[in-house]
Amino acid sequence: MRKLFSFICLALVNLLFSQTSLEWPLIPLPNHYEVKSGSFLLSPKTELFFEATKLSNHLTYFNASLQSQCGFQLTRSSDSIRPSVIILELVNSGPNSAEAYSLEISPNKIKIKGDTAGVFYGLQTLKQLINDQSGYQIKLPCLKIQDQPRFIWRGMHLDVCRHFFSPSFVKRYIDFLAMYKLNTFHWHLTEDQGWRIEIKKYPLLTQVGAFRKGSMVGKYSDSNYDTLSYGGYYTQEDIKEIVNYAQQRQITIVPEIEMPGHSQAAIAAYPWLSCSGKKQEVAKGWGVFEDVFCSKDSTFNFLKDVLDEVMTLFPGKYIHIGGDECPKTRWKDCAKCQALIKKEHLKDEHELQSYFIKRIETYVNSKGRQIIGWDEILEGGLAPNAAVMSWRGEEGGIAAAKQKHKVVMSPGTHCYFDHYQASPADEPLAIGGFTPLEKVYGYEPLPKSLTADEAKFIMGAQANVWTEYIITEKQLEYMSMPRMSALAEVLWTYPENKNETNYLIRLQKHFALLERQKVNFAKGIYQVNFKIRNDLDAKQLYLELQANPYLGEIHYTTDGSEPQSQSPLYTTPILLSTDMKIKSTLFYAGQAKTRSLTRSYQINKATNKSIQFKKEPSKYYNPGNFVMVNGESAKLPRINDQWLAWSGDDMELILDLQKSEDIQSVEIGFLKEELNWIYLPKEVILFVSNDGKKFTELQHLNSKQLTNERSALFQLKNTTAQYLKIIAKNKGKIASGFPGACEQAWLFSDEIKVK
Ligand code: ACM
Ligand code: ZN
Repeated sequence: MRKLFSFICLALVNLLFSQTSLEWPLIPLPNHYEVKSGSFLLSPKTELFFEATKLSNHLTYFNASLQSQCGFQLTRSSDSIRPSVIILELVNSGPNSAEAYSLEISPNKIKIKGDTAGVFYGLQTLKQLINDQSGYQIKLPCLKIQDQPRFIWRGMHLDVCRHFFSPSFVKRYIDFLAMYKLNTFHWHLTEDQGWRIEIKKYPLLTQVGAFRKGSMVGKYSDSNYDTLSYGGYYTQEDIKEIVNYAQQRQITIVPEIEMPGHSQAAIAAYPWLSCSGKKQEVAKGWGVFEDVFCSKDSTFNFLKDVLDEVMTLFPGKYIHIGGDECPKTRWKDCAKCQALIKKEHLKDEHELQSYFIKRIETYVNSKGRQIIGWDEILEGGLAPNAAVMSWRGEEGGIAAAKQKHKVVMSPGTHCYFDHYQASPADEPLAIGGFTPLEKVYGYEPLPKSLTADEAKFIMGAQANVWTEYIITEKQLEYMSMPRMSALAEVLWTYPENKNETNYLIRLQKHFALLERQKVNFAKGIYQVNFKIRNDLDAKQLYLELQANPYLGEIHYTTDGSEPQSQSPLYTTPILLSTDMKIKSTLFYAGQAKTRSLTRSYQINKATNKSIQFKKEPSKYYNPGNFVMVNGESAKLPRINDQWLAWSGDDMELILDLQKSEDIQSVEIGFLKEELNWIYLPKEVILFVSNDGKKFTELQHLNSKQLTNERSALFQLKNTTAQYLKIIAKNKGKIASGFPGACEQAWLFSDEIKVK
């Protein structure tokens, strides 16, 4: 019966979406297509015809991939009248449709038409249609595609400073961008932890600045370092080769030279660039550092020299000048910076930062180029022609568009691929955050608050891959793939043509190509999602196991064993009436699609009971009171929808057990994450009552008495009560010398267990 149901579902989906989009793994989905009957056989007998010499690179490129996948190449024919032919036709499309293309496949002929970029994209579509087929008989469906991207900035960023990636791997990364018709590679080349671009005039930038004497190991909060020399850089020859490689793939590289902050590696090479002139080391740890470029003339001269070489190497319109996270501490104490503030009649150090960027912009503009910077460049006034990359949410991008400045959206909420993409407890260590594939796919780069005219300033979006926790090439692939494909569809395919289930089905087929290319992509789409539901009337808890039904069926166990295809099939929610440990896996055609996930539930006297807070949690961390009594303790690393939190305020709650109960123990969880200003409570106090009005204090624990710095456990004797009151005293204003000094501490709490 269940099998029949799955079959009907699949049949319905096939009806719902067009045959092509499902059957052929095209990502991003073309905007207009028509499926025809019949097929074209691509074989060593197929010839390729084009007139424009401009297209010879395309032939070389296409042949290289055909050779490695199928073991043959196409020869160029002198005319288009051949029994099996691919015709590339160059048209001059004009600036607004330079990336448009048409692709028509008929039984004996394939025709791709477009400008240089358009023809390249047509060939990408063809490569995706080949997918994982190999050998001398490649079957391609007859169809007609007319396609053009939605946005002109379709970008991916890569931080090669926190960890260095070899020139050959950078090329592989560029190939991923090309596969998804992305056209901008934002190359983050300088940082506190390493300067990675050779500058001939300042050789110490790489001789000294490209190497650090150790790196952080593990979580930031552990503060562990190794003592290994770590580094690397790209020579100008490497860069020329990579720029050329990208150009052949219709990708513009936007180099980023960070200023005035994130510049400690440059200062390590040339200490006179800083305010104090003191010797510094290339940073070993992650974070934001106080030694930044001093705003004196010699620094500007240095930066002009550096930018001269950068602009010679990178021919694109935009030069990224960073601009983010620049502490003003050193400028406040620097006679030169203060004298400049006075001379230029600037209000403060924020205006000095704005002055700094404007001065650099004037220089870059004088060379016929434009600057782009992180959204902090809005502070103290935007430079007249600057484009803004909005990363701290979309607000910066919205403000810039309203001021008629060009914008690239890259909000941390949807576009940071260093964030977790699946349940953090089951993933390799990452910086934090939670950005699953579906969230990326659902991203809409045009904010609703902009008028149509303002929205024209949004050039597109990009995802950022910061590499503090991304150490190896394999891990970099894991973090960026397949999220890069979701972003590509956001940026290429018009919203009316997008559909998440349709995308997931295409993606599942496209995985075959990634496997063939030995890409270490994440398989989060196959992870079973555990969702607890409470049925308030029946006062019962249920566990729902969720996965996209088109990707497989869920099997689970409750005895701790690994689920097999013969283990119970999940069909309806599982009643949680006693403690349970559930392991679950998605299977397709009897094969496990990924490893199992395990969740434990502890059902106790507090489970599913009602809670009232004296002061509601912060609106930023308030997934509902139920998370405190849902039978599941929040896992670490933190994922926000499992916690309630208060900023500066105490947490005070009353729990109604609904009848008088004998109580042996009460336990409540807290979180310590001081680097994020989350502190344990100073004190936790337990009260009981039988009428909900008059409470008697029973016990209190201070922060040192918490178990594993995680939970307050009260052991009780001869206690009977219906109501519990718990007060957890917030640490309040954070003392100086501690993370978040002078700010209000956060108090995070999760599960209460009463036994
Ligand atoms: C950034 O993530 N600091 C731009
Ligand atoms: Zn200074």
